[in-house]
Amino acid sequence: MGISVAVLVSGRGSNLQAIIDAVQHGALRANIGVVISNVPDAYGLHRAQTAGVETRVLDHQNFPDRASYDLSLQELIDEYRPDLIVLAGFMRILGDRFVRHFAGRIINIHPSLLPKYPGLNTHGRALADKASEHGASVHFVTEDLDAGPIIIQSVVPVYDTDTPDTLAARVLEQEHHILPQAMAWFAEGRLTITDGRVLLDGEPRPEQGLRTS
Ligand code: GRF
Repeated sequence: MGISVAVLVSGRGSNLQAIIDAVQHGALRANIGVVISNVPDAYGLHRAQTAGVETRVLDHQNFPDRASYDLSLQELIDEYRPDLIVLAGFMRILGDRFVRHFAGRIINIHPSLLPKYPGLNTHGRALADKASEHGASVHFVTEDLDAGPIIIQSVVPVYDTDTPDTLAARVLEQEHHILPQAMAWFAEGRLTITDGRVLLDGEPRPEQGLRTS
C-alpha cells in the first residue's frame, strides 16, 4: 500500500487528480489518507470524494489569526499520521511552527522555475520579463516561502503569442507529471536532504533540479 499521504488543496484540484490517477495506475505506491481544504466548496474535495478519499474542511475564515489556524491544521493532519504532506494548490502561507513540525515530509508544487518567481502571478511575471522559458518546481517546504530544496523541475518554452492562461496550461500539464514523480521517489525512500540540497539515490540533484523537457 505504500506511504500514507495527506493532500492539501484550495481549488480546482487538478494536481490532486494527477496524484489520484498515479495511485490508481500503480505508478505511486501511496494511500491518500485525507484531502484537506481551507475552502469549503473547492472542486478538489469533489474529486477526492469521487475517488473514495476522505475529505476534511478547515475554513481559515473561522479563525482569528494565522497561528490558531495553523495549529488546528497541524492537529487535523496529525490525526491521520501521514508520512508525507503535499501542498497541491494550497493557497495559504503556512507559518514557521507548522513548517518545522512537518520538516522533511512536506512538499509543494509551484508554477515557476524556482528560484524565479516565488509567490503569485508567476505566468504573468514570466511574460512581462519576456522569459524564453518557464516551468514548474516541486520542492520541500521550509520556513522561507517557495525557497525550500528543489526535488524536480520541468521546463516549457514561452511563445510570443502566449497569454498568462496559455502559459499556465502548458505549465500545468508538466505539474501533473512532476508532482506524482516526486511523491513516488519519496515513497520509494530515494530522496534525502543534505545541507539544504536534495539527493536522489544519494546523488545531488542538478543546481536547479532535474529538467524533464
Ligand atoms: C497550480 O498551478 C499550482 O502550481 C499552484 O496552484 C495551481 C493549482 O491548480 N500552486 P490545481 O488546483 O491543482 O488544479
